[in-house]
This record gives sequence, structure tokens and C-alpha cells, in this order.
Amino acid sequence: MNFRARTAAGLAVAALLAIAGAARAESNVDPNPGVELVINGDTPITVRAKAPDYLEGHLDNIYSGWLYRIESTRAMEADDFENPAITFVEEGIDAWNTVEGTEGKSCASCHGDISEGMKGVRARMPAVNENGELWSLEDYINNCRVNRMGAEPYKWDKGPMKNMTAAISMQSRGMPMNVAVDGPAAPFWERGRDMYYTRYGLLQLSCASCHEKNNNNYIRGDHLSQGQIVGFPTYRLKKGGLVSIHNRLKGCIRDTRAETFPIGSQELRELELYVASRGNGLSVEGVAVRP
Ligand code: HEC
Ligand code: HEC
Repeated sequence: MNFRARTAAGLAVAALLAIAGAARAESNVDPNPGVELVINGDTPITVRAKAPDYLEGHLDNIYSGWLYRIESTRAMEADDFENPAITFVEEGIDAWNTVEGTEGKSCASCHGDISEGMKGVRARMPAVNENGELWSLEDYINNCRVNRMGAEPYKWDKGPMKNMTAAISMQSRGMPMNVAVDGPAAPFWERGRDMYYTRYGLLQLSCASCHEKNNNNYIRGDHLSQGQIVGFPTYRLKKGGLVSIHNRLKGCIRDTRAETFPIGSQELRELELYVASRGNGLSVEGVAVRP
């Protein structure tokens, strides 16, 4: 643990909410009842679902971050002509079909069309590989590049990798998130769960302090969601580009004034697995749009 866990009495979510001057809203209720997401008019997305059993006592229902966004942001995600992430998806598909490396192969040489070869893959990531290690989608991609194509690995948090994860995520759009939490995944999942509930940093906040106890409240002007990752990689309007899962997790930990874990670290893989499991039953959104 390289977190600096220090108590600073009085500095908790309640105080942050007070700074924002917001009235306290009820948490864990549907922030936008009756509002539905159907992408391009033909792909229904499950944005609310019954929480998986292991969240008993914590959440009854799970809600996509989409439901917490303002109407104009929601509209962008509902139409691929408006969704700024789609150009990156197209770049990812181009890379999928491009021969690279010493073996003279593209991803398509082995996996075929991306819509066939990668269907459902995002919905079960991260997952334990055949050697018993927990791998994120990024690890699977780089394993193929290095060991099967003889190509350079992509950098985890750079454009080419995010374009590829976006292109692959799109092939699971509308499918229910369904990561494994039992069997060989169990020890990783338990460590991720412990991280989720650990209070870190100068502010002594856990993920749950904001995303479980205070979702639906406003913190510094942001409408707090449940912190789901079903829409990743996500296009962030503020950043004007795609944001990877680990980048988001790292940023949220940093916001508690804690030293954070590096992108691609084992800790963030385990946290990713646990957070992904909290979304089991919601649809994979492909590439979401967020503020
Ligand atoms: C030489 C053949 C080959 C090439 C080229 C190749 N792969 Fe793979 N890939 C495999 C094999 C074999 C597996 C393991 C079995 C499986 O899951 O299909 C695999 C697994 C994967 C997985 C995990 C799938 C799962 O269901 O767990 C992903 C993701 C993946 N590859 C992405 C890519 C991407 C992206 C590229 C191009 C950058 C690529 N692969 C290039 C052969 C290849
Ligand atoms: C101080 C409050 C706070 C803490 C603590 C916090 N977050 Fe966040 N997080 C936010 C805010 C604000 C946003 C942006 C609004 C939203 O989507 O909730 C956000 C967004 C997210 C998102 C993106 C959701 C989406 O739909 O795009 C994820 C995922 C996330 N947080 C995960 C976590 C995890 C995991 C932790 C614990 C390591 C954590 N957060 C800790 C405040 C927090």
C-alpha cells in the first residue's frame, strides 16, 4: 500500500457537499426515472438493473453514469453521428486490419472481422488468463501484439491503445456486463472490494464515500454517479478525448489527496475487476460520453 492514509478531521464528503452548497439528495435512487437510452434508435441499452447479490446491503439497484448526465450529454451518446468517440473507434478498426510486426499479421489475420472476433469480449473483462493472472483488456491486446505479431506493445494510456479498446468495446454494445467474480477471479475480486471500501488520502474518503453513499448528490458542481465503468473507454468533453478505465480510477484516487497507483498496476486491475462487477447486469455502452 503506497497510499498516505492520514486523518484530517472534518474534511469528508459532507464538508465537500457543504462547500458545493447543495441540498442533500437521496442516494441510490433512480436519478432520472423513465428515461431510456436507445442508441441510434435501434440499440437499447440497459441503464438500470437490479444489483448483483454480492452488493446486498450496499445497493439495491445499479444505474449507468449516463442517467446522471444532463440532457445534451445524454443525447450525444444516443446518436453515433453526435458521439465524438466514434472517430476513435474508426481509427481502432483501421488498426485492427493493419499488418504490423515481424510476423506479417494483423489482428484480423487471426480473429477475422472485429465484429465477429471481439463480440462479447469487453463484457467479461478484466478476466483471469490461462496462467492464473488477472488481465485487463489492454493486457490481452499487448500479449497478442508482442507474442503473436512480433509488434511493439501499445502504451496503456495512449491513443492507439484507447482506440483499440474503444473499437473492441463497441462490439459488446448492448450486451450485459458479466465479469466473473468467483473461481480463480475470487482473490483478485476480494482485494478490489477491500480497496473500494478503504478510506484513503488526506480526505479519508473511499470510493464508497462518494459513489455509494453520496451518488445523486452534487460535489463541486458534479452530479455524482455510482462510478460504473460500463461506458469505458469514455469520451470526456472536458478532456476532448478518450479516457481509459485506469486513468479514471487513478484520477478519482488522486482527488482524495492520496498517492495513487500507476496506470497498468496490479492494484488498479483488481479495483477495475471489482468496479466492473458492480455493473454486472447493465449493458456495455461501447463508448460513452461524459462531461
Ligand atoms: C497470430 C494470431 C493472432 C493475432 C495476430 C492476434 N491475436 Fe488476439 N488472440 C489470439 C489467440 C490464439 C488468442 C487466445 C484464444 C482466444 O481467446 O481467441 C487471442 C486472444 C485475444 C484476446 C482475448 C479474447 C478473449 O476472449 O479472452 C483479445 C482481446 C485479442 N486477442 C485481441 C487482439 C488484437 C487487438 C490483435 C491485434 C493487435 C490480436 N489479438 C492479434 C491470436 C491472435
Ligand atoms: C470525492 C468523491 C469521489 C471519490 C472518493 C471517488 N470518486 Fe469517482 N468520481 C467522482 C466524481 C465527481 C465523478 C464524475 C461524476 C460521476 O460520474 O460520478 C467520478 C467519476 C467516476 C467514474 C466514471 C463514471 C462514469 O459513468 O463515467 C468512475 C468509474 C469512478 N468515479 C470510480 C471511482 C472509484 C473506483 C473510486 C475509488 C478509488 C472513486 N471513484 C472515488 C468523485 C469521486
